[in-house]
Amino acid sequence: MRKIFLILCLATCTVLSSCGEDAVQKDRVEILFPTTSSGIWKYIGELCAQLMREANYEVELHHCTDPANQVEQIKEAIEKNPAALVVGAQDAGNLAEPLALAKERGIPVIAYDRLIMHTDAISYYASFENNSVGEFQARYVEEKLNLKSGAGPFTIEFIAGSPDDSNATLFFNGAFNYLRPYIDKGQLVVSSGQKDFGSVATAGWKMETAQSRMTDILQKYYGGGKSLNVVIAANDDLAEGYIRAQQAAGYSGTPTILTGQDATATGVNNIKAGKQAMTIYKDPEILCAKIVRMVKAVVEGSQPPINDVTNIKNDVTTIPSYLCIPMIVDKENIGIVKDFSR
Ligand code: BGC
Repeated sequence: MRKIFLILCLATCTVLSSCGEDAVQKDRVEILFPTTSSGIWKYIGELCAQLMREANYEVELHHCTDPANQVEQIKEAIEKNPAALVVGAQDAGNLAEPLALAKERGIPVIAYDRLIMHTDAISYYASFENNSVGEFQARYVEEKLNLKSGAGPFTIEFIAGSPDDSNATLFFNGAFNYLRPYIDKGQLVVSSGQKDFGSVATAGWKMETAQSRMTDILQKYYGGGKSLNVVIAANDDLAEGYIRAQQAAGYSGTPTILTGQDATATGVNNIKAGKQAMTIYKDPEILCAKIVRMVKAVVEGSQPPINDVTNIKNDVTTIPSYLCIPMIVDKENIGIVKDFSR
């Protein structure tokens, strides 16, 4: 009798602990993404969630309203004991505390697109070669303006992304460092003198902020826009900010070259209309597929696709990563963008 009681007790305990609050939900993934106000995060979030569901995970997708809200969302997600957190950071420097909690609870974290700082809680990171994004924008300018053959001088301005996004400095450095020799030789002239990331950054990647900074610059240095030849805008939203500033200044021409990134609907339409020269296409399907493999790896203990185990370092540790290769898109090859709806 005592033996039967003991067996019953053990069975009940096992059932309780596997359904109880502390049990890890092996098929549940929480996706925590930035606000939907910048870039194409809503589109990417839905796509990633869909690919996770197709891989048989139960998914909850969250977009924050601001950095503090993302901290709260991560804490709430941890309470659900998911198999993994997929985090696209709103503020890359602000997540150490909630992610330490995830680590303590044994919940693996996968960083999406933006590297997260001050933490050793990240199992894997998947992104595009962010430095190449800027470098490809710069190479495009170099080729179209024939800079290698000594052409110039051309005027140029930079519109960089948000300082709280770890990618933004990489994009800027990729572009600026590549063009620096031409600036030093005087083939490219930054009339505003704004050549460092701090001066050209755009908090929150806000189009309106880029628009007002460029309105000011166009008035002060470029006769409303006529004499500005090149604008390196870090993404399509910022490029649109420039276009609006130029329109408001009453100049309907186009700068010789305006760059972008993301192949958003706005960016693609601006390219078709001849207002923007190019964008950088980072196919989110490719990146989300890598993330799904990384989730599988942390759940099943398998090896995910990794192509960089040495170079991706935050200020605490080196993170095994997969970096995809971005592509240049302009009028000539715009057809390769799979989906124009974002
Ligand atoms: C992404 C870009 C995007 C930007 C603003 C960056 O972290 O890599 O693709 O344009 O955020 O949302």
